[in-house]
Amino acid sequence: MTIRFVTSNDGKVREAREYLAEDVEQINYDYTEIQSDDLAEIALAGAAEAFEETGGDDPVIVDDSGLFVDSLGGFPGPYSSYVEDTVGVERVWNVVENEENRRARFRCVVAYYDGETAETFDGAVPGRIVAPRGEGGFGYDPIFEHEGETLAEMSTERKNAISHRGRALAKFADWLAQRD
Ligand code: IMP
Repeated sequence: MTIRFVTSNDGKVREAREYLAEDVEQINYDYTEIQSDDLAEIALAGAAEAFEETGGDDPVIVDDSGLFVDSLGGFPGPYSSYVEDTVGVERVWNVVENEENRRARFRCVVAYYDGETAETFDGAVPGRIVAPRGEGGFGYDPIFEHEGETLAEMSTERKNAISHRGRALAKFADWLAQRD
């Protein structure tokens, strides 16, 4: 079986291949991101649209992720990408800098759809918001610290091992293996 991962991000596809025994084919289709507070709802809608759009032969997965800051009521959450592009990561740090509670989490939902079965798998990694450090990774990695290191300071292997996406993919891989 081939799983079609609908994303323009090559790094995500490489990560998925490490977790899944199945073939993973990358599909560069820009699905509609519906507006919702719920990552699972966004990812499921994307997976259903992408499945129809790609002809419906093979199952598809879509992932949606975001940074949820406790003291900001979960903001930017599902709007993380928009906030990164408009406000920028450095200024998210400036907003949280004066808060006593700087706890946050990255969350990721992987949605699977094969025309009959729709399932979601979530993963989260806890941490706290800090002044930017590190050169690696992408997005909010430099301001997110987990166990003393920002994600931008970690090796790719270490980040993948603890990441929200890794945890969601691991759950998905277990579920797939049990279905076979
Ligand atoms: P997407 O789900 O890949 O579109 O990501 C949504 C937003 O969350 C984007 O602004 C990403 O930069 C950010 N994001 C998702 N995963 C990570 C991560 O592992 N590190 C840093 N930022 C992330």
